[in-house]
Amino acid sequence: MTRFISGRTPTTNAEAFERALAVTPGGVNSPVRAFRSVGGTPVFLQSGRGPYVTDVEGTEYVDLVGQWGPALLGHAHPDVIAAAHAAVDRGLGFGAASTGEVELAELVLDRLTLPAADGGEPRRGIEKLRLMSTGTEATMTAIRLARGATGRPLLVKFAGHYHGHSDSLLSEAGSGIATLGIPGSAGITPETAAQTIVIPYNDEDALAEVFAAHGDRIAAVITEAAAANMGVVPPKPGFNRLLADTARAHGALLIADEVMTGFRVSAAGWWGHEEAHGVAYDADLTTFGKIIGGGLPLAGLGGRAELLDLLAPLGPVYQAGTLSGNPVAVATGAAMLRGAGGEVYEHLPRVAHAIADGLSAALSAEGVAHSVAWAGSQFSIFFRESAPQNYAEAQAQEVWRFGPFFHAMLEHGVSLPPSVYEAWFVSAAHDDAAVERVLAAAAPAARAAAAAQPAR
Ligand SMILES: Cc1ncc(COP(=O)(O)O)c(C=O)c1O
Repeated sequence: MTRFISGRTPTTNAEAFERALAVTPGGVNSPVRAFRSVGGTPVFLQSGRGPYVTDVEGTEYVDLVGQWGPALLGHAHPDVIAAAHAAVDRGLGFGAASTGEVELAELVLDRLTLPAADGGEPRRGIEKLRLMSTGTEATMTAIRLARGATGRPLLVKFAGHYHGHSDSLLSEAGSGIATLGIPGSAGITPETAAQTIVIPYNDEDALAEVFAAHGDRIAAVITEAAAANMGVVPPKPGFNRLLADTARAHGALLIADEVMTGFRVSAAGWWGHEEAHGVAYDADLTTFGKIIGGGLPLAGLGGRAELLDLLAPLGPVYQAGTLSGNPVAVATGAAMLRGAGGEVYEHLPRVAHAIADGLSAALSAEGVAHSVAWAGSQFSIFFRESAPQNYAEAQAQEVWRFGPFFHAMLEHGVSLPPSVYEAWFVSAAHDDAAVERVLAAAAPAARAAAAAQPAR
């Protein structure tokens, strides 16, 4: 009989990975973590504090992954940890309504309420919010709700956008699907795949064509509010408004996925960011994840009240969850939102630009063609001369430069997302010392990128 329990916690990354490979598919519980596109052994992290994470070998890194988004205030922020402790002390969950859920919903609705420019009624991004556990659940529910509300079958999504791993949303998706270079997933029936129409991002003509051909059968268009799962590719100014107007003109809905951008690119997410830049748009449904849970599993679906009220128990669209609105997760989410005041949203772009400018200068000094793409404080580096506008352009880069660049950064104490198709995240805790450490890694990483060769 094979015995697996060694009774000893691994003390090196290599040992941890070897043991993980024996008991977990690919050694990981989410594919990009496996380092498949950059090669080498994944680091197994055991703690994080402020802008730093530490692996099982005791090596410390400046972290630019930020838990893939949630770590807005840095790791283990004292207020968030205190909120978690206080909630844990009261019990881990009850599977019943609890007051923390109400308080979190009120906080979110408050953030998504902006004063009207003309002094009239405030603008409201969402009117009601249903809490659940993952971003995948939020987008999956948004689609079911859009279909239930419109009685229509089809969904339009954009190539390179990632909305989680539900069946309708994996066609030509970003994130791990892009990292692994695969078109979608096995195990999805052709009938289901046929209900999703994929069009190029930032392409007004493709949008007009798809609505001209199928307008009366389209339930919704789903878009990352600003795409960040093929690397960062923001919408052209006014593109989100065009999506909203086009959907509305055909009786369809717009689902804005703010799982990544929500509470990060501004206090009111990308919706608030565009509002501040004079290109306001209204989504019918908006999804949240990551920051809304303060680092614990929590997500939300918000939207107009008349739509949200179609969810059970009021309406015919079913959605439920044993862990939905978990009291510990709502407590950490609320603590994070309360802790992220205006100064945080001024700090993030400053730090992000300091890092991006330094890396860009180092790459230029080595003659490496590259561009930096931005959506608020979210950014990524592309190994091509101009920032892409869609997935085809994001793929048309010297991808093979990223692996050596990534490993040189890691060797010099900087943890980047292990894929060229991911956004980089900074936090309120990234101070001058952390930035300096990143910039100290810039020259060797740029040299590694310059010396890289395409695979034969
Ligand atoms: C824009 C977007 N939507 C949805 C998801 C899925 O969220 P989760 O991983 O919590 O299921 C992600 C995850 O990265 C995302 O970036």
